[in-house]
Amino acid sequence: MPEPNAGRLRGLRQEDVAACCAIAVRAWTPIHDILRKDYGEGLYRMALGGWEACKAAEVEDFCRRYPDNVVVSELRGEVVGFATFHVHAGGVIGVLGNNAVAPEHQGKGIGARQISHAVEELTRRGVRYIEVITGLDQGHAPALAMYEKLGFVQRRRTTLLYKEVGGDPTRTPRR
Ligand SMILES: CC(C)(COP(=O)(O)OP(=O)(O)OC[C@H]1O[C@@H](n2cnc3c(N)ncnc32)[C@H](O)[C@@H]1OP(=O)(O)O)[C@@H](O)C(=O)NCCC(=O)NCCS
Repeated sequence: MPEPNAGRLRGLRQEDVAACCAIAVRAWTPIHDILRKDYGEGLYRMALGGWEACKAAEVEDFCRRYPDNVVVSELRGEVVGFATFHVHAGGVIGVLGNNAVAPEHQGKGIGARQISHAVEELTRRGVRYIEVITGLDQGHAPALAMYEKLGFVQRRRTTLLYKEVGGDPTRTPRR
């Protein structure tokens, strides 16, 4: 159950989009602090440097194109979280996408409430299963625990490997 001061859920308005993007960047920053250590600085910069702009663009693009597939949490007139979801081509599998809660409002039941809403909405749209991909790293532990608490079961575990093979170390990635 969300805490009494956890605000309410509502549909996305276009004026919420910037707030959703900002929340995404702030909520993913601690995850990236951990990824930076796991990757090592050099590889992190090449593989994930500039992630903030990519994440914000991804959230903005989704919100603009699919506003009916986004739910936001509002607390005292301010957007404090959001969740995106869609139905896979074919219509039988629903997919949870980017979702986050502003760091200062985490731990109040807001994230779980957003996901429960997305699950209900996808169920109403007729899907049979709902999938979500998350990391097995320490940064994603809260998300993994949230999904498992809500009844999601791990079906496949994957990992990502790198081998350093040379190349010009001064080259920077194009995003
Ligand atoms: C994942 C996230 C959305 C959870 O939001 P939240 O509002 O803090 O979560 P809730 O308060 O609803 O907690 C729901 C459950 O998640 C788990 N959980 C939440 N925070 C946790 C933490 N820091 N450590 C371990 N488990 C945690 C718990 O099982 C919790 O249930 P409980 O309170 O009964 O123990 C939030 O941590 C976040 O924005 N993370 C960064 C972005 C992200 O990882 N998004 C998902 C990408 S796949």
